Amino acid sequence: LRLGILISGRGSNMEQLLKAAQDADYPAEAVLVLSNKANAPGLETAAAFGVPGQAIPHSDFADREAFERAMDEVLRDNRVEVIALAGFMRVLTPWFVSRWAGRMINIHPSLLPKYPGLDTHKRAIDTGDSEAGCSVHWVSKGVDEGGVIAQARVPILAGDTPDTLADRVLVEEHKLYPRALALACEEIMKKPRR
Ligand code: GRF
Repeated sequence: LRLGILISGRGSNMEQLLKAAQDADYPAEAVLVLSNKANAPGLETAAAFGVPGQAIPHSDFADREAFERAMDEVLRDNRVEVIALAGFMRVLTPWFVSRWAGRMINIHPSLLPKYPGLDTHKRAIDTGDSEAGCSVHWVSKGVDEGGVIAQARVPILAGDTPDTLADRVLVEEHKLYPRALALACEEIMKKPRR
């Protein structure tokens, strides 16, 4: 399947997907990386992998939907069949979400349904949880609410700060996302071609 990746920043999860997609047997082929921030370091990483990257700054548009229409057009021009959100920090409107329903996944740094939204690691530590983790899920209208495809867990250790915990979770994110995207592609390939 033709894969489009949406980022806003560093792009370390994107990089893992690009690596996985270099394997001819992997069910997705990376064709496009889009960023809503012109200076996202991930765009340079994409270029290093030979994958076309493009910035579509959301601040250039009058409203959310106009921004999303611009993204949607580029995604369709590139015949993208599956979208992976990888540190993409814009909430998507119901219009975009329904247009890509069943074809768009996200990685979130918590064990959903716990801690949708921001500051997940701080919230897990403050609650006194003994473990944290990450989830890959289908994108649905509620933020971080869609069906979970796969999760990975890590312990929360005495003395953890949000940063040390984030580092431990990120190691698992990098292993989880390529695996979960492959599972999502298997589901999508059962559907009629769009
Ligand atoms: C990751 O922790 C991801 O789960 C969260 O934002 C971070 C993005 O990191 N949504 P990167 O841009 O993939 O390096």
